[in-house]
Formats: sequence, C-alpha cells, structure tokens
Amino acid sequence: MRPTLITLLPALVLAGAAALAQEASDAVAPEAATATGGAMSANAMAALKAKEAGEPVRAPNWMVAAANPLAVEAGAAILAEGGTAADAMVTVQAVLGLVEPQSSGLGGGAFLVWYDAARGALTTLDGRETAPLAADPTLFQMGGERMKWWDAVVGGRSVGTPGTPALMFDAHDRYGNLEVSHLLQPAIDLAESGFAVSPRMAASVARDAERLAGQPRTSAYFLPGGEPIAEGALLKNFPYAATLKALAGGGRDAFYTGDIAQGIVDTVQGFDANPGRLEMIDLAAYQVKERPAVCAAYRAYDVCGMGPPSSGALTVGQILGQLNSFDLSAGVEDAQVLRLIGDASRQAFADRGRYMADSDFVPMPTAGLVDAEYLSARAENLKGDRALDSVAPGRPAFDHALNWADNVSVERPSTSHISIVDSYGNALSMTTTIENGFGSRLMAPGGFLLNNELTDFSFKSHADGVPIANRVEPGKRPRSSMSPTIVMQDGAPVLVIGSPGGSRIIGYVAQAIIAHLDWGMDVQAALDMPHAVNRFGTYDLEEGTYLEEMEGPLTELGYEVNIRGLNSGLHAIQVTPEGLVGGADPRREGIAIGGWGAWALGMRRVANWPGAVIRNPPRA
Ligand code: GLY
Repeated sequence: MRPTLITLLPALVLAGAAALAQEASDAVAPEAATATGGAMSANAMAALKAKEAGEPVRAPNWMVAAANPLAVEAGAAILAEGGTAADAMVTVQAVLGLVEPQSSGLGGGAFLVWYDAARGALTTLDGRETAPLAADPTLFQMGGERMKWWDAVVGGRSVGTPGTPALMFDAHDRYGNLEVSHLLQPAIDLAESGFAVSPRMAASVARDAERLAGQPRTSAYFLPGGEPIAEGALLKNFPYAATLKALAGGGRDAFYTGDIAQGIVDTVQGFDANPGRLEMIDLAAYQVKERPAVCAAYRAYDVCGMGPPSSGALTVGQILGQLNSFDLSAGVEDAQVLRLIGDASRQAFADRGRYMADSDFVPMPTAGLVDAEYLSARAENLKGDRALDSVAPGRPAFDHALNWADNVSVERPSTSHISIVDSYGNALSMTTTIENGFGSRLMAPGGFLLNNELTDFSFKSHADGVPIANRVEPGKRPRSSMSPTIVMQDGAPVLVIGSPGGSRIIGYVAQAIIAHLDWGMDVQAALDMPHAVNRFGTYDLEEGTYLEEMEGPLTELGYEVNIRGLNSGLHAIQVTPEGLVGGADPRREGIAIGGWGAWALGMRRVANWPGAVIRNPPRA
C-alpha cells in the first residue's frame, strides 16, 4: 500500500507528556491537579507505533480496539484479568464518555452485535434512543416547513431517551463476569484525577465553541474562562464520577429514575431557546431490545449486523450482496471496480431512503431487502460499463402493500466504534453515539452530554401526501446508519468491524470488508486505505490520497466527483486460527491492544485485586 494519511499519533503521545505540566482548569476542577492523566502504558505506546507503521497488532487470546488509548487500555486490563467482551465494553464505554465526550456517552444510544462462543450464536441488542411519548411527526417543523438543521439540533428538542446506560447494564447482565462497580472504577478514577485533553477533542471543541457556549454547564466544562479547553490540559469531571458511582451502587435504575433522570428532564425542558419534550415517564419506560442479527451472504461469508431501526446491516448487506457475482480483484484503483461498488451503493441507498425505519412502528421488507434473488436481480442493473443514469428504489419481496415516500433528513459524521474479542471466544461489535459531535450541546447535571439523535428522523412526515417511513412518532427509534458488523464463516466470527461517520459509515464498512476479503489486506491495511464512498449523489474520494487520481476516470464514466475529507473511525479485529489481528483507523486517535488471557492459561480464578469477582465458569 502507498502511505496516504496524515496521522495525529505523535501529537497524541506528546499530549500525555504535556499534561504533566498543566494546571487543572478552575472551571472543571475545584482543586489542583494531582494526576498524570494521559500517560500511556508500554502496551499502548507499542500499539500507537504499530498503527503509525501501518502494522496490525497481533495477540493470541483477547483484543480490544476503540477510539481513545485511555479507553482501550482500561478495557484491555479488564480482558487481561478474565473479563468478558461485555465487561470490557462497560469499561471502554464509561471511559470514552469521559475522554471522547463529543462522540458517545451515557446521554446517547448504541447498537451491539454479540457472538456468543459458548452457544455458537449471534444476536444484537438495540440501545437506540427513543422519541418522547409527547413527540409527534411535526417535531421538526415550524409553520408546516422543515426546521433548519442547526435550529433543530441545538437544544432540548432533538434529545431522545438515552439508551447507552441501559445497554451497558443489559449486555453485562447477559454476558458479564465481573462486578459493574469494578468495571466503572477506571472511569471514576480518571474523572476524578483528570485526563489529558486529546488533540482531537481540543480541535472539536475549538471548532464548535460558539454552539458550546449556549448552555452554561456545557460552556463551563468545554470553554473554561471562555476559551476552548486546550490540547493536553488536565480535565476533571466530578459530576460524571458521581454519576458512575451512582450507577455502580444503584444499577440501571439509578440512571432512569431519580435525580439523574430528573436532571436530564430539567435540562431538556429548561433550555428556553429550544425546549424538548422528554419526561420522566420516557426514561422510566426505556427498554433495550434484543433483535435477530441481519445477515447477507457475501462470497464464502455471512456479513451480519444490526437490523432496523438501523439501516446499517441491510445497506452494507445490499451493497455486498449485489457485488457477489462480480470480480473485484482489480482493486480500488480500477474505475470499473469503483463503478460497481458505487452503483451497488447508490441502489442500496435508494432502498434505504424508501423502506428503512423502525420496524416496530412501520412494516418493513427486512428479509426481502437482503434476499439473494432480489439482490442478484438488482445486480443486473450493474452490468453496463458506465454510471447508471438514474437510480430508483427496487421492489423487494414483502407481504404488505408498500407505499412510502423517500426519507428527508441530514446526517453528519460523529459517533464511535468499539470492537472486542475476549479470551472465551466471544466477540462484540458496538457502535455508539450521541449523533452530532457534542450532540444537543446540552450537558446534564450528571456530567454527560445529551444526544441530538431525534434529528436522525425525517424532518418531513409526508411527501405529496405519502407518509415517510422514518417520520417522528412517539416512542419510535430514529433510523440509524450505524453498522456494527461481525463477518462469519461456517458459523464462527472472522472479522469484527464498525465505524463512525454518519451515513458514510455504510460505505466505510463495506469497503473495508471488500479490502479484507477480496483484496487480501490485513485489517490495518484495510483501515488505512483511502475511501471512495457513493451514497446517493456525488462519488466522494478521500482528499490527500492516491484516490484523487480516480477523479478523471470516474468523471468519464458519468459520476459527479467530490474530493473531500472522509473521516472514518474504523476499528477491527480479525479472528484467525493463529490468533487475533487488530487495527485502528489512522484518521482518529484509537488503538488496538491484545494479549494473553489468564483464563486461557487455565487459571480458574484470576482476580488480581479486591472487588474483582469472577463467576466461574463464565456465563454463556
Ligand atoms: N447518528 C448516527 C447514526 O445513528 O447513524
């Protein structure tokens, strides 16, 4: 592979050292800094070096890959002491909510795909935010017209009932071994002692400073003294630590009832410029939903992920399913290969825009959309040699009359992805979000940002009198693009992958899977390669990479080409007979760390510190 991408890695390493010299900010920490947040272990430094060199990380028994080294290190420690992938996820998510608060956290939602090694079974957990019971299809309309995007996002109106805390507890109840109090402790410690603000977080705050200034609590945290928090500054979050302690002691209910819930509701309803409709009943009624994985056949594999309300598995599956009969071996620098991928994607996005929404509320042709015969019929359209002149939704098999209008919503890149394999052979792929960077820009009294997930609904409820499947309805979950994926072969996982990136997530994940399966790249090379993404409009080519050279050939084929930044955050783990191979996206700050499992070494009790209680044998 040619080297292509800028990397933030050296700056990130330096940030850890810079933190040592920083005073704690008065606005976020009422006492002097005492800790060295940001210092990295030898493991993390080695992982960063590997990523910088374009090398994957290899390990025999367990691995975790996520968007911030502090979160990955904390998760790795849990796996090393015998925790399951679900245990490690609780720790990783709790730390990410602190150190990457702009992307995910307790105020957001997530989807989790789980491979259960003991049962050889795959399932998914839906922790998506829900619309308040008081919401209606006109939530994002004023005087019958669609609201402007930012007017809708900033404030309480866009906040859905958070699902991430419930998902953390639900996954842990089903698949965890260690005590929640133990799993939350690393984030509590880090919140109290402080962490070094990463370059990415500092840059995100600086870019968004005007919007972050709108709510006093958000502003005090991110703009102490009125200035964006600096890279390397030591940041503490005592309210967040208190929230995690409440969850450690009181469980799920401590979030969804009582003071923490009331703080969320007051924040949402009390933002006078754009109040929301969330009430205590919405939080108390929140439920994680277990749903069957949606799988599509591709080559010798089953590509499995999150079905509705996510469009992720269906759209990734549709792209790959249409490509099944084509030879893509000429690679990403071949215009005809890009044409095939691009037009398969355009056709998949046409179906997505027409049919995909929360299937608990609208009838959906879920099986029909990834039916092999349907996809091979759609693939007939790809047999020319020029870009399709026009693309329309297909007619997947379904047992209801379908008459939906096309979705109308804006989707911006944000979000975070966690991939984990534990030493029992379980695999977890979880994409987690508060939607836009910094979500609604409202911080709850509990020290976490609230999502703006409701703007993933269509702002229009109808088009020419025809209802839109993804319109707002009370209690409904907005359509997502998140594509946490586990690729299976002969019933066992071979690749655990996912990415942030708004609706481009789908293209990032599909291309990385093709790079790995068709072009034989190891996971790090597949994540490093530049992106070419076509949703339903322009063909987007990644700026500053060799794919810019494809502008001419693609324009010749009839595409409108747009050269732009394509900020994926792919994290992937390859499962091989020789062990695990992991990679982290060079466009973000994440790493992969793997190791030996104490469990795999035959130690029946591996707790290495008080409070770590391991159920033995691990629960299936
Ligand atoms: N808000 C990002 C997604 O759900 O696709």
